[in-house]
Order: sequence, then C-alpha cells, then structure tokens
Amino acid sequence: MLNKSKYKTSHHNLTERDREVIWHPLTQHKTHQHSLPVVKAEGTLIYDERGNSYIDAISSWYTSMYGHCNEKLIDAISNQAKKLDQVIFSGFTHEPAVKLAEKLISILPEGFSKVFYNDNGSTATEIGLKMALQYHHNKGEKRNTILAFEEGFHGDTFGAMSVSGLSVYNGAFQEHFIKVLRLPKPDGSNNAEILKILEELAQNNLIAGFIYEPIIQGAAGMKTYDKTGLNSILKYCKSQEIICIADEVMTGFGKTGTCFASDQIDTKPDIICLSKALTAGMLPMGATVCKQFIYDAFYADEVSKGLFHAHTYSGNPLACAVALEAINLYESQLIQQNIQHIIEAHQVFKGEIEHHPKIKSIRQVGVILAIDLDLTIERYGNVRDKIYSFFMERGIYLRPLGKTIYIVPPYIFSRKELSQVYQAFREILEKF
Ligand SMILES: Cc1ncc(COP(=O)(O)O)c(C=O)c1O
Repeated sequence: MLNKSKYKTSHHNLTERDREVIWHPLTQHKTHQHSLPVVKAEGTLIYDERGNSYIDAISSWYTSMYGHCNEKLIDAISNQAKKLDQVIFSGFTHEPAVKLAEKLISILPEGFSKVFYNDNGSTATEIGLKMALQYHHNKGEKRNTILAFEEGFHGDTFGAMSVSGLSVYNGAFQEHFIKVLRLPKPDGSNNAEILKILEELAQNNLIAGFIYEPIIQGAAGMKTYDKTGLNSILKYCKSQEIICIADEVMTGFGKTGTCFASDQIDTKPDIICLSKALTAGMLPMGATVCKQFIYDAFYADEVSKGLFHAHTYSGNPLACAVALEAINLYESQLIQQNIQHIIEAHQVFKGEIEHHPKIKSIRQVGVILAIDLDLTIERYGNVRDKIYSFFMERGIYLRPLGKTIYIVPPYIFSRKELSQVYQAFREILEKF
C-alpha cells in the first residue's frame, strides 16, 4: 500500500514553501528567512524566478569552473546514463571509473597510484584521515593523533570537523572529536619557530597524519601562507613517517594557477583529497588518492587490514564520466588561455587597488582574488549581509566571509564580467 500524502502546502510562493519544509545548510533559520528561488543557470549566470540574473563569481562554491549547464558535460552524463547509470562499486568495476583513475594518476604529482572514490569533499578528507590512522594501526604502531593547521577547514563529518580549526559553531560536538594537535601557519618570518613547535608536538611519536590545504586556506577567508615554510613542515613530517594529506578539495583543477596547488610545493603529499571542480558542479563526487606504500599497508591476508569504508555512490559511472569530460575541458587550450587572462587581469586590478586605505590586505593566488576590508565584521553578521546584498543588487553573486570578499570565477569568465566585478569592488571600497 502506498502512503497517501497528507501534506498540502497553503503557499504558492517558492520561498514560503521552502521555509515550511526545508532545513538549509549553514543557516540559522530564525535570523535568515529568505532563500532566493533560482530557476536556471547557464554559463556564468544564475537566474532567479523573476528573471534577474547573477554572475556566479564564486563558481557555485568552486565547482562550476567551465560554466553552468555546459553542453559537453551534459552530453557526457547523458551518453553514460544510456549505458550504465549506477552499480555497486564493491565487487564490480566499470570503464568510466578505471579511465578516470588512470587520468587522475596521470595528472597528479608523480607517485600517486590508487584512487578511492567517495561522494563529497568531507568524505574525501575523512577517508584521508582514516587511511593515515589505519596505516599506522596496520603496522602495529599506536599513533592516534592528527596534526592540522589553525583555521583550516576540511569538512563537516566528524573526522573532518575535528581537524577543522574553524569549528566555531561546532561546540555541540567538541567532546566527540578525534585527537588533533594544531600548528600555526608559517608566514616566512616564523618558519624556524614553527618547525620547533612541530618537533615538540611530534616527540611522543603519536602523530599519524598531517592534513593541510596547500598554499591557500579557503573557508578561513582565502588565507595564504608561506610555501617554503609548508615545504619544511612536509619534509619534517615525512622524516617522522607522518602521512601528509593535501586537502585539494577547493584548490584542485587549476584554481591556484597550476593543476594542483601541491604542484607548487617541492615536497609532495602522500594522500590528495579531491572534490568540487572534479565533476565541474554537475554531480557530487570526491576522490582520495594515495601513494602505493599506503595501499601496501592495507594489502594483507587479514581481511581486517583492509579499508572497510564505503559510500553507496562510490565510483558512480555518471560522476566518473562527467569528471573525465571536466578534465578534458580543463586541459583544452581555450580554458588554459582564459585562466591566464583571468590571472593577468587580477594582477592588474590588484596593482590598482592594493594601497586603498580601506583595504587591510589583498591576496591573489591563480584565479582567486581576496580582499580583507579594514573593518571588524562578524562572519555571519549584519554588515556581512549588507555587503552580500550590495553585490546581489548589482547582479553579482559573491559570498563574503566576514570582512573578506573574494572571487573564484569560472574559467569561462569574460573580460566584461571581470570588469563588472572589479567595478563593484571599487564601489564597495567607497561605500563601506
Ligand atoms: C578545503 C575543503 N575541504 C573540504 C571541504 C568539504 O567539502 P564538502 O562541502 O563537499 O563536504 C571544503 C568545502 O568547502 C573545502 O573547502
């Protein structure tokens, strides 16, 4: 017998219907009443139900780098959907999953050899943490702690939340967190000091892994730090058999000017976590890719030494097919040229405004441009909301993080769209 629906809405307006039945992510519903109904997205634009368009200047949380509803991506999904839509990935395999793994291994820094599929950024890092912890467990060592940077963000599952230094709103879960030690970020002047702190933290030999967002911390407010300092930390970790886990969920696939941010650091990680632009905003997917020596520590006669972790949609054929097409797009001449154009335009604009008295600091890494306004603003407070509305009224979707406004444009952004966003930045410097 089917359950007959007893629910009937009294509202016609989508925002009101939404308010009745939906609980949104990262939202305090008592103070945030309004979710903007969108009806379509195309290229760089998102359209609301009234026909207003908004330039998606953060690529829908760093995913839709080749534009929304890209025909090539749609074709990749639809062609795959006609052949094989979904199959359990424990006990079965298929061409798109193998092809994507082969492709990832060929574009990642040297030495990566096994791809573990999952379904979002948090599970990608969660598995990286589990690999590091179980690696030592399988080798009979008691290492129960993870090292992470202050202010890092790695997701919202328990392990990922534990290592995220930004867990200001995670008080309810604090006592259930896994064991984490925190390291300040190197800024060039404190590198030696940070290495000393690290040596002290590592002296009991309890650290299983070190998780970090290479070069730039996204959720912290696009905060950059010193590459040489990071390199020394990684070198030291390797000397202590601490598994280095690069969280490239945000940075992966070109945003920092190289395919992966780890390409810019001499010492490479042992594990790389990927998601977001991996599937270009089309389907949820993550991947945790590791080096052979990690895989080898799980390869044993004892079943219990295996990695007993699964997600229903691991290796989903549609997601694999669209990820392959996304990488094709990334490697195309057109996209590579446009990435260079965006980088150069950012450099010119940065030069123009960097000494503005209202700017506390300005940072550019690849296509990412971030400005800290010289104001004290709560991360989710009123002034932040006013800045958000200021941009929306000008047809630009940005997501300020407190006093930080930043842009991560799709790689298909036109010069005109860049100019529009820069102009809005200029105006905001006059207004606030
Ligand atoms: C660096 C980093 N890691 C992990 C995550 C979590 O990804 P997801 O939201 O897909 O769980 C994010 C999300 O913004 C991120 O920026």
